[in-house]
Amino acid sequence: MSEKDVLDVLDVLNEMRAFARERKIPVILDDTRAFLENICARIKPLNILEIGMAIGYSGAVMLLSSPTDCTITELEASTPNIALARENYKRLGLLDRVNIIEGDCLDTLDSLKGQKFDLIFLDGPKGKYIEILEKLLPLLHERGMLIADNIGFRGMVEGKNEITEPRFSFTVCVLREFLDITKNDMRLNSKVYFEIGDGLVIVQWRKNNQNK
Ligand SMILES: C[S@@+](CC[C@H](N)C(=O)[O-])C[C@H]1O[C@@H](n2cnc3c(N)ncnc32)[C@H](O)[C@@H]1O
Repeated sequence: MSEKDVLDVLDVLNEMRAFARERKIPVILDDTRAFLENICARIKPLNILEIGMAIGYSGAVMLLSSPTDCTITELEASTPNIALARENYKRLGLLDRVNIIEGDCLDTLDSLKGQKFDLIFLDGPKGKYIEILEKLLPLLHERGMLIADNIGFRGMVEGKNEITEPRFSFTVCVLREFLDITKNDMRLNSKVYFEIGDGLVIVQWRKNNQNK
């Protein structure tokens, strides 16, 4: 990619971020973006799975930091978001590396049975993270990495901030249980980064685990 191409790509990414903010579409925060760029540059995934694509911002960030033959499978329920993401991926020249599957991820995940992904980014419905995890683990390559976003839920999961609305109580319970499950499952290694973005957890299979 020439220097001009790199600058054009950065402009499009910045426009996408501004658009999402203006429309109040939640997308990854800047330090989460830097973290994902770093991870992709290090692990060089060839196939990525993302749950919750929105307008394609985090997906584009990951693809642009991965090898040029890396592809991404996107699970997304919102038809308007899919149209926006398609347009954005097209502008970035990435559309041929993207497989978008529309629908509730709890249904569409079943269609991926038998596939393995090097990197999974979970950024879909927070209240369903535990059910989604059960379906995601069989899809995680033995040396793959699963990253779940919003695990801190604005400081409420750690108890640093009060639960501001009654409807958040359920989500906070689910996220705390998600962290317990990933920490206590003897097949898994997990590491929590509450300080990055809205909180991230990385989950990987332990070496020599027989159950994966
Ligand atoms: C936080 S946004 C994703 C942001 C995106 N990862 C980014 O940072 O650019 C969550 C997305 O998950 C989608 N979503 C919510 N529930 C879903 C479900 N059950 N199945 C699939 N997608 C879902 C929403 O439509 C929304 O686009």
